[in-house]
Amino acid sequence: MSNAIAEFIDGLPKAELHLHIEGTLEPEMVFTLAERNRVNLPYSSVEALRAAYDFENLQDFLNLYYQATRVLLTERDFHDLASAYLARARAQNIRHAEIFFDPQAHTRRGVPLAAIVEGIGAALDEASRSNGPTTRLIACFLRDLDAADAMRTLDSLLPWRARIVGVGLDSAEANNPPAKFAETFSRARRLGFRAVAHAGEEGPAAFVADALDKLGAERIDHGVRAIEDPELVARLVREQVPLTVCPLSNIRLRVYSDMPHHPVSRLIDAGVLVTINSDDPAYFGGYVNANYRAVQEAFDLTTSDLAALAKASFAASWLEPAEKATKIEEVQLYLQRLNKARAALDIPKHHGVNRIPIMTPFNVFHD
Ligand code: HPA
Ligand code: ZN
Repeated sequence: MSNAIAEFIDGLPKAELHLHIEGTLEPEMVFTLAERNRVNLPYSSVEALRAAYDFENLQDFLNLYYQATRVLLTERDFHDLASAYLARARAQNIRHAEIFFDPQAHTRRGVPLAAIVEGIGAALDEASRSNGPTTRLIACFLRDLDAADAMRTLDSLLPWRARIVGVGLDSAEANNPPAKFAETFSRARRLGFRAVAHAGEEGPAAFVADALDKLGAERIDHGVRAIEDPELVARLVREQVPLTVCPLSNIRLRVYSDMPHHPVSRLIDAGVLVTINSDDPAYFGGYVNANYRAVQEAFDLTTSDLAALAKASFAASWLEPAEKATKIEEVQLYLQRLNKARAALDIPKHHGVNRIPIMTPFNVFHD
């Protein structure tokens, strides 16, 4: 990859819409918090822990992910975790982040929900008072626990109704279809929560349709296996359902063998509203810019394509319409500034062929 494209990605204003805050727990912080909280770890060093990040599949990853969360115990821990992510997000020019957390992963260990939400919330407030990013907080239900547990968790969220804008669904997908949580999501939406769900990561394309129809999900997290059902792809295009795709995650969890086999470019070519995200960046080899770089390199995307993906990330966000328009305009201005500077930077006007068709609805600002 040319340095110029990597720099373009670094400076590109973007939103991140699929980010588990627990998945930003870097090995160094695992050790710091373990020491602070006197938690015993089954790893002798940061390097030994990092060496364990070689996953066969989603469950293999989740086992380590839940184990590492044991070091998160106090409000301060959750604050520090979120604060570290937000600093990295600023450095990556993420201007808006919609952040997942897994209440049950902590409450089942005896951590009070107040410590989790107040800790993360304080970090989000600090970001909003300083350089950003703007944020939204989404509580995910663990789909491998039973539906009654999700319903109880939903009730326990109500004191933080103003802080938590939406609910999601994550953890082991294969034998835990969306239908299992139809009642929980129905109640959550009646209570005014917005809804998203992981679907079509390890589960089949049918789970993507079920997440829309049975849960009322407004966006699908991952959704990549929709590519196996052309009629479903046509529906996603027709209804402009955003997919929060996490390319490096899908390779590290062996959903696809390598980036050239990843369906992200076919989904883009079909006109699906694809966004690029990092999922669990401490575990999957990179934050959001590394994900943009991996996709750019594998599919030879142009700067114009990359800008279109960044615009899509704001279009698919839960920002207010006026804020969305402002952020999308910022991406356009960034691209125009680059176009003016191309000669000086010695980048040809068209690095490659634009992949994102000019006519896709989210891409009305294409240069
Ligand atoms: N998939 C499902 N559940 C998760 C993930 C994921 O990628 N990350 C954290 N919980
Ligand atoms: Zn995820």
